Amino acid sequence: MSDAHVKTMSVSDLPQELFDELEKYINTLEDKEGSLIHVLHKAQGLFGYLPREVQLFVARKLNIPGAKVFGVVSFYSFFTQTPRGKHTISVCMGTACFVKGVEKVMDEFSSQLGIKNGETTTDGQFTLRDVRCIGACGLAPVVMVDEKVFGHVTKDDVAQILKDYRGE
Ligand code: FES
Repeated sequence: MSDAHVKTMSVSDLPQELFDELEKYINTLEDKEGSLIHVLHKAQGLFGYLPREVQLFVARKLNIPGAKVFGVVSFYSFFTQTPRGKHTISVCMGTACFVKGVEKVMDEFSSQLGIKNGETTTDGQFTLRDVRCIGACGLAPVVMVDEKVFGHVTKDDVAQILKDYRGE
């Protein structure tokens, strides 16, 4: 059986230039340990996600335990340990949105994209994920595509939203 179809990311796939750039950024910081969140933001901006190798690199450079870095990365939903698509669709599963039937919207994205919550389409265009309340409950149900907020979304809006972002 061939493994050819399985795309894995090994350490060598991560560009050295990005590690160099991250290191340069870290070297400019005075309070290294206190800058962990900033460093992780910077790292995710560079690599697009935070694979284990990058987390360990950050831990080494900041001179803090790897477990502390893993803890922060898994606590904040902003950080991701798997590669994301070009666009991230964040469906709010907070109480207000839930009450207004956001589950149906999530199901529709899921079925139109052919992926489950937390997955990325094979063409790398979209990542679908749920998030906790984003503080726009008056607009429930709420969906964010990248940084843009869509309010009062129904399942009938899903096709149009995807169309607007496809191929962008
Ligand atoms: S519950 Fe969805 S924005 Fe608050």
